[in-house]
Amino acid sequence: MVAERLLFGGDYNPEQWMDQPGILDEDIELMKKAHVNVVSLGIFSWAEEEPKEGVYDLDWLADIIHRLYASGISTVLATPSGARPRWLAEKYPEVLRVDAYRRKNLFGGRENHCLTSPVYREKVRQIDVKLAERFGHDPAVILWHVSNEFCGECHCALCQDAFRGWVKKKYKTVDALNHAYWARFWSHTYDSFDQIESPSPIGENSIQALLLDWKKYTSDQAIDFMKGEIAALREGGAIQPVTTNMMYNFDGINYGKMAKEVDVISWDSYPEWYDENLYRAMERHSMNHDFMRCLKDRSFLLMESCPSGTNWQEYSKLKAPGVLTNEGLNALAHGSDSVMYFQMRQGRGSFEKFHGALIDHSGRDDTRVFREASRIGEALHSEELTAIVGAKTVSKAALIMDIENRWALDGSAGPRNAGHGYLQLTEDFYHAMRRAGVNVDVIDAQHDLSGYAVVAAPMLYSMNDETAERLRKFAEDGGTLILTFWTGIVDENDLVYTGGAPHGLMEAAGLRFEEIDTLPDGRENVMEPAETGTAGSFTERRYRCSRYCELDHLSTAKTLMVYGQDFYAGKSALSVNHYGKGRVYYLSSWPQRAFLNAFLRDVLAGSGVRSLVEVLPKKVAVCEREKDDVSYLFLQNFSGEKKEVVLAAAAEQIYSGGEYGESPDFGKQNAQAGETVCVEAFSTKILRV
Ligand code: GAL
Ligand code: ZN
Repeated sequence: MVAERLLFGGDYNPEQWMDQPGILDEDIELMKKAHVNVVSLGIFSWAEEEPKEGVYDLDWLADIIHRLYASGISTVLATPSGARPRWLAEKYPEVLRVDAYRRKNLFGGRENHCLTSPVYREKVRQIDVKLAERFGHDPAVILWHVSNEFCGECHCALCQDAFRGWVKKKYKTVDALNHAYWARFWSHTYDSFDQIESPSPIGENSIQALLLDWKKYTSDQAIDFMKGEIAALREGGAIQPVTTNMMYNFDGINYGKMAKEVDVISWDSYPEWYDENLYRAMERHSMNHDFMRCLKDRSFLLMESCPSGTNWQEYSKLKAPGVLTNEGLNALAHGSDSVMYFQMRQGRGSFEKFHGALIDHSGRDDTRVFREASRIGEALHSEELTAIVGAKTVSKAALIMDIENRWALDGSAGPRNAGHGYLQLTEDFYHAMRRAGVNVDVIDAQHDLSGYAVVAAPMLYSMNDETAERLRKFAEDGGTLILTFWTGIVDENDLVYTGGAPHGLMEAAGLRFEEIDTLPDGRENVMEPAETGTAGSFTERRYRCSRYCELDHLSTAKTLMVYGQDFYAGKSALSVNHYGKGRVYYLSSWPQRAFLNAFLRDVLAGSGVRSLVEVLPKKVAVCEREKDDVSYLFLQNFSGEKKEVVLAAAAEQIYSGGEYGESPDFGKQNAQAGETVCVEAFSTKILRV
């Protein structure tokens, strides 16, 4: 926990207004009005902090930090490595990235430094130490924001060397390397580690294990870079916790590994509000909130979000009244201890001049956005909501979404090059689990499984022995495990398992994979009830299925649904196997959402995972956090109509948004189990259970 209160505020870039010093006073007044209690500073301030090499100027920053603090606004202080000053690139061109075509970048943009360059690492260390020496004990600074949205890769000579070292350390001998890379294929055998080159569209791009290693290496290198920055902050004496801001659905870094190196998880969420279905737009980001929370199994920070429209999405869709409030409270519902924005004041020029901000170009406090944001700030500081800070999320259901599995799928040719759809499939599962009204943990394959009653692991194509064993044990010990097609096919190095799939789980699933058929977009098969009798409401009718149709040999598993078409009509499309004290469901195809909704509702209930409410209407989200024996139930309506939720337990209402989030009411009101509670259009209710 970073603070005893919920944080409200966001990125602030006063260095862009150095020639208008009066603006700081205006901003402080406006921020106070909006109930801001935190800003993130210095993210892109290197050129002001070190205007010439070795010449540091942190006085202006200290002045701003302290003036803010005097007004009750703390600082999350960044290290500036996300964007470098011009002099640095000019003097040390090695800091500039080289792309996969081996072309060197010119100066420009941001988040594009070489991750290996000793010069860059040293320059970053120096400025980080200076910042830590100056602010490392300052009570005004509550958290370090290391760099900004680490991302990307570099193929320069220094990085090639580092990659070779990484590969050599992993495989030790060239023989082991050739075996793992299946390098005799097309005569690509390596004679020495010196011949290792990063993958390239104009070079090696056929060895899929190399592609995978490159992703793992790049991720490790970014984490190593970040560790260097954290060490520099500690070297400078900083005592505050550290974080780095992560991204939505980002596939460049193994966040599970990165999470171990920071004290606090934070991330930047920009839902696609131009989606026609706002519930769906939010749900994708709710899933990422759950993923972020599970990285450390505790509350996190929403570091950035947009108070209005962004300027970089396809469409800068404005948020209708209430949407901003629901978006912020959704983060809270899923485990955030903050609602923070990019940005406090809108800049006048360059790339982000049209990006939404708390204070827009007019500089006024009577704008629609300012008013709604201030209302959120006020609510977060109420006694009722302050009590939620640090509250935990307890979930009996988990969904595995594994980044290394995704990399392996991305790098593999076949069986479905028109899109493997891993992310979409996990989203379909997430949707169904959420529609069942339960809390959901979104975890990677390394995560501990104890404590869960149900674990869904869709399309876990790449799996090591250890993961297979943990999943097997989970079922044996009484868990309900849900597997799908294309599972346990390759090991962690993308080498196909011989002897059958799903590797390590054939006995638990009571079946063995034989072939997989993939269908073009728009083509479908159907799943029909099997003659062996029903197993729940989900086996009582036909459902459409698409994309993948796997053909499996069942041993001990019982068929629940069969394919209705093609030469494999009548073969199992869904089966269940009783194994040890638990069960393993195996879905051989990708069913339509209606099936998954019915299936997960039944399976969760049958496994003792009860819905948080009795009746959950469409487009209403439910979530729960717990602290000191009190549960906080969040009901959020993402539709334009009033919705009625039926409670499962007696509760006391502590926050109730009016229509479109207007005039929230903090009046306490009691409701009984089975009672109907109305949630107004685009608004949120929070209840104590
Ligand atoms: C984030 C970034 C911020 C800002 C924001 C705009 O990805 O960290 O610096 O550019 O996007 O939406
Ligand atoms: Zn490099």
